[in-house]
Amino acid sequence: MKKIIIDVDTGIDDALAITFANQSKELEILGITTCFGNVSVEMATENTLAMLAAIGTEIPVIPGASQPLFHPMIKEYSTHFHGDNGLANKKLPESTQEPLNLHATQFMIEQVKKYPGEITLVCLGSLTNLAFLTMQEPEIVTKFKKIVIMGGAVNVPGNNQMHAEANIYADPEAASIVFKSDANITLVGLDVTTKVKLTLDEVNRWKELNTPLANILRDITTFYIESYNRSHGAFNYCYLHDPLAIAVTIDPELVDTKPMYIQVDLEGHYSYGRTVADLRIRSNKKPNVNVCTAVNVSKFTELFLKRIV
Ligand code: BDR
Ligand code: CA
Repeated sequence: MKKIIIDVDTGIDDALAITFANQSKELEILGITTCFGNVSVEMATENTLAMLAAIGTEIPVIPGASQPLFHPMIKEYSTHFHGDNGLANKKLPESTQEPLNLHATQFMIEQVKKYPGEITLVCLGSLTNLAFLTMQEPEIVTKFKKIVIMGGAVNVPGNNQMHAEANIYADPEAASIVFKSDANITLVGLDVTTKVKLTLDEVNRWKELNTPLANILRDITTFYIESYNRSHGAFNYCYLHDPLAIAVTIDPELVDTKPMYIQVDLEGHYSYGRTVADLRIRSNKKPNVNVCTAVNVSKFTELFLKRIV
């Protein structure tokens, strides 16, 4: 089993990712740390606990950053996409589990010290918790076996901004610190996550199961798909950004990757928060990130649908 920690800003696709990870026997989830992003960190924590209760499991939940490292929040919460509470405005049964009385970063440090070289960290929200760790303990960040980040847009447009993807734009300075570290990073960006879609027809099939969890997932995902229809003029589907990062953690063969030198633009007027790759043939820059460039869509979809409900 692969030991993982998931860092989330729960959100609808984070909720799908947590469920998917929990149903995957290859993974042992040591803890779920939270941060701001789709919603406030308090709401992300509450949503994570509520999802775990709906799944029927108890995994330690540890709250982290409530705002970017160096300046006030620039990105608004994504309530237009995920609902005011981040979970489609749906009231989930309350959890009886309490979050741990520890900071997310402290939890990550303790776990890495306990299992050096063994843990994969999967980041599904802003990179603030991880950047904070990197600044405090630059050695520890290299002791994760791997860091899988859902974030960035290397060869495609952004989503939150013209060029910037939401998780990076939430705290571009944090992302920059992480990319400059010596960590072993795999970037699961919009280049691949916008290739993996979940359709309303597939979600409607969950109706037949009629279990409390399947009903919750169906309701929140239907809302998410409606948000896509409203905002993208999409046609009854949503992207599975965060679940793809979990899938890549389970099976790295699902994607093609290319080592690249990536920097985050921290000064651009139009491209602040953009993940800029040095794509020159004769670049002399040392690659710092393994960027996912292609995904086996049918294999991913089969894996996800088989396990989610
Ligand atoms: C990412 O941003 C968040 O809104 C989603 O949960 C996902 O992690 C997609 O850009
Ligand atoms: Ca997320």
